[in-house]
Amino acid sequence: MSGEQEVWPVPDAAAMQALGEALGRAARPGCVAALVGDLGAGKTTLAQGVGRGLGIVAPVVSPTFGLVHELEGGRLTLLHADLYRLDDPSEAEGLGLEERLEDELVGLVEWPGRAPEVLPLDHLVLTVTIDDPSRADAGPRTVRARWTGPVAARWWQEACGG
Ligand SMILES: Nc1ncnc2c1ncn2[C@@H]1O[C@H](COP(=O)(O)OP(=O)(O)OP(=O)(O)O)[C@@H](O)[C@H]1O
Ligand SMILES: [Mg+2]
Repeated sequence: MSGEQEVWPVPDAAAMQALGEALGRAARPGCVAALVGDLGAGKTTLAQGVGRGLGIVAPVVSPTFGLVHELEGGRLTLLHADLYRLDDPSEAEGLGLEERLEDELVGLVEWPGRAPEVLPLDHLVLTVTIDDPSRADAGPRTVRARWTGPVAARWWQEACGG
């Protein structure tokens, strides 16, 4: 059940948060999304919205120490990983990330290309692009969504479908 791509226009940072919030409200245990996109594209901004949609009060920020944060206090645990500084995919094994992403939580992985094998088979891929790089600090983005299985398909559908 690998889905067609859906295109979601995101005019500003608030709209990116709103998209994240919709995903946070619709998330069920085992929902995992890979957040793909250049530096500053808006992946963490999207993750902040997911945290809010789950009812997590603490702001989602990029992990400074370590590569993985787990945020509690919401409807479900949110695991937020940023693998940008991962030097070698084998390091991901030491993080236990693959195992943790099998658990009953919601997972978001920025820079998943650093260690693609940590993702469960069924996941959402959200690719963020900056429409006009000359005004990246306050310009529109486009999110492209695709899914690799039924859990992710339903997640996107319930958050953003019709
Ligand atoms: N349409 C938009 N969508 C998302 N963010 C936007 C938009 N317009 C402007 N921004 C701004 O762009 C910045 C995006 O930064 P963010 O940390 O979310 O990017 P990132 O993809 O996580 O980068 P990194 O790879 O460095 O972690 C924020 O300062 C945000 O306010
Ligand atoms: Mg980020």
